[in-house]
Order: sequence, then structure tokens, then C-alpha cells
Amino acid sequence: MNVLSSFNLENKIAIVTGAARGLGEAMATGLAEAGADIVIPDINYKEAKKAADKISELGVDTLALKCDVTEKSDVQEMVKKVIDEFDRIDILINNAGICKNIAAEEMSLKDWQEVIDINLTGVFLCSQAVAKEMIDNNGGSIINISSMSAEIVNYPQPQCSYNASKAGVSQLTKSLAAEWAKYDIRVNAIAPGYMKTELTAEILEKNPERKEYWIEPTPMKRMGKPEELKGVAVYLASEASSFMTGNIMNIDGGYTLY
Ligand SMILES: NC(=O)c1ccc[n+]([C@@H]2O[C@H](COP(=O)([O-])OP(=O)(O)OC[C@H]3O[C@@H](n4cnc5c(N)ncnc54)[C@H](O)[C@@H]3O)[C@@H](O)[C@H]2O)c1
Repeated sequence: MNVLSSFNLENKIAIVTGAARGLGEAMATGLAEAGADIVIPDINYKEAKKAADKISELGVDTLALKCDVTEKSDVQEMVKKVIDEFDRIDILINNAGICKNIAAEEMSLKDWQEVIDINLTGVFLCSQAVAKEMIDNNGGSIINISSMSAEIVNYPQPQCSYNASKAGVSQLTKSLAAEWAKYDIRVNAIAPGYMKTELTAEILEKNPERKEYWIEPTPMKRMGKPEELKGVAVYLASEASSFMTGNIMNIDGGYTLY
């Protein structure tokens, strides 16, 4: 196969959770630019619909769905609706996630649980429900959005639940890759560094001094742009990465090198 054709996603059906905005919206746009039809399950339906409408201007089919990735019934209903509409699922990007900056000694069980439920259990629930369809459909590609926080402890903000959840996502990625290789389901992860999205903008607005701690230790001396994840998302979703599974790809401007 010609190398450029191996990146083509025409006739592929892709679900990108939490793609109403931020990194998910950018990656969903990248997959659509490569030809995939896009489903956006997000807890915020209004914004998901706006993002889906914008992506459909690229000439692909899109579907926005209200879905809380922590609710098994929501996830099952979401997968059922995608199958009803498109017949199969080829690509899943588990992107929905949140971060709470709370000192460990003060964190309530509720706050801890919410982060673990969305960031880790949500990835498991969506992967499990989608994998059942992929098994019937001779395989697919699952891409989990981990973080460099799976590997390093961010400084100076305290975020133990986030870091633990993302370490869980990276190890879940490897475990599912090993279990599901026999079904031709590849499972990889992207581990972004500091990216300019509403999630990080909200943190920086409250704590502008943090920018210096985030950028100075980054060899490339800047934050990433959401669209800088498009290429890696298309690569992992497509035949271009056909022999890659269980891999965690750091896209962090070099932050984890030091
Ligand atoms: N921004 C960064 O610097 C950065 C770095 C590394 C990893 N990440 C990860 O990338 C992913 C996206 O981050 P972002 O910066 O675009 O965040 P964001 O807050 O801009 O977007 C997150 C999206 O997830 C949705 N969401 C939240 N809870 C949900 C739930 N329970 N069910 C369904 N949808 C839900 C939100 O409505 C939103 O649309 C997250 O997993 C995050 O941890 C972000």
C-alpha cells in the first residue's frame, strides 16, 4: 500500500469521547480531514452538537450524543445508537477527562472518585462496549488519551488523583492491547504534555505564575497546540500504524526528557 494511502480513513467510523471542545475536537477534526465519519459522545450535548456540525462541513457524516462515560447504561446506549446509524465502529478515541488540583491531604473521597471514574473507569467502560462490536467486525483501533502525568508528577500544582488516573490509563492501554491483539484490535495511547485548551486556560487564569513552571522545563519552550495531536491521532487510527499496539506516544515538546 502506498504510504499516504495508508493514512486514509475514508469509510471508517470513529467515536471520539469528550470531543465537544479542546483536544478531542481537534483530533476528531483530524480524523474527519482524513475521511472518517465522526461520533461525539459528550456530557455537554449542546457543545458536542456545535462541534459535530462544524466537523460535518468537511463533508463527512457526524453524530453528537449526550453521554456520561462513567455511566455504563449511557455508554451502552451510545454504542447502540452508533451501530444503528453506521453499522460498525472502526476507531475509538477515549478522550473525555477532567483534572482537579487539590492537595492530597485535603481531597475528599468524592473528588478523588470523580476523577478516577471519568479518566480511568470511563476509558474501561467505553473500550469494553466498543470492543464487543469491533470483535464482531474483525478489529479496530482504540486510542486512549493518557498524559505525561502518567509518568511524571506535575509541578507546582497538586493533582494526585489525575496523575494516578493517567498512570492507570497507560497500564490499561497495555493490558487491553495484549488481551485484544487476537481480535485485531490495536490499543495505543497518546500522552500529551501541556496543551493550550480550555482545561489548562482555566487553571492558568487562576494561577498565571504556573506558566513559567510549565514552559521553562519544556525543551521546546512552549505549550502544544491542540491541532498538533491531529497527525498522531490519524497515524494511530489508520493502517499506517498496523504493527503498533500497546504503545504510549509522548507528545510533550520534550517535557519528560529531563
Ligand atoms: N490540555 C492538556 O494540557 C492535556 C494534557 C494531557 C492530557 N490531557 C487529556 O486530554 C483530554 C482532553 O483534555 P482537554 O484539555 O481537551 O479538556 P477539556 O476540558 O477542554 O475537554 C474535555 C471534554 O470532556 C467532556 N467530559 C467531561 N466529563 C465527561 C463525562 N463524564 N462524560 C463525557 N464527556 C465528559 C467535557 O464536556 C469536554 O468536552 C483529557 O483526557 C485530558 O486529561 C490534556
